[in-house]
Amino acid sequence: MTSCPRLGVNIDHVATVRNARGGAVPDPVRAALLAEEAGADGITAHLREDRRHISDDDIERLVTALKVPLNFEMAATEEMQAIALRHKPHAVCIVPEKREERTTEGGMEVAREENRLAHYIAPLRAAGCRVSIFIAADRRQIEAAHRIGAEVIELHTGAYCDAHAEGRTDARDAELEALRDMSAFADSLGLEVHAGHGLTYDTVQPVAAFPEIAELNIGHFLIGEAIFRGLPPAIHEMRRLIAEARA
Ligand code: PXP
Repeated sequence: MTSCPRLGVNIDHVATVRNARGGAVPDPVRAALLAEEAGADGITAHLREDRRHISDDDIERLVTALKVPLNFEMAATEEMQAIALRHKPHAVCIVPEKREERTTEGGMEVAREENRLAHYIAPLRAAGCRVSIFIAADRRQIEAAHRIGAEVIELHTGAYCDAHAEGRTDARDAELEALRDMSAFADSLGLEVHAGHGLTYDTVQPVAAFPEIAELNIGHFLIGEAIFRGLPPAIHEMRRLIAEARA
């Protein structure tokens, strides 16, 4: 993989702002269409069990409105499987979900739930969805994701970004090294490698530079940045940094 990584824009937090007032604005679907026009290669949306941001209706409207692929993030529950099978999005990314967490805090424990997850993703794959598993940069989890038949893994960049934000440079460098090594390892197994969570203009380039990374999924920072410079310029700058890192 040598070409520039695709940028998936996560629009969940447009819905967070909308839901703070309970009305219809700002509309995450409008943000998704604007992101698409600004050059996003895909749109990512996480339908959480508690519907704290994206709603069922948002997913329905995204499926109808988007030209670029929809990456549907979801917990491995029966309810979410039924929704995914109804809409058949281009991609499904399985994420761990706890009600009490503020965001997706860790990766999937694939190794612990191998049998269940293998059965869980089979119908999604049969329906034509590319199945991705969100995991830490951990060899055991990657091997398990490969064994259950996932085509894609998404590496959790949160620990790397947190270490950077807190000025813990040794930890940041160690996290980055693990991400680099595990991208290469996953690629050697034939898995497509994505990465995301917490990425910003300051942290995106070292990850985008890994030759195996095919896609980056970025949301919270871009939506925040859009307040100051508008969504299209925020996305353009992210794309520029990604291209520069890979060049
Ligand atoms: N990738 C996955 C699997 C995620 O769960 C999230 C957060 O919903 C993201 C990427 C985007 O993270 P952020 O909003 O911190 O950029």
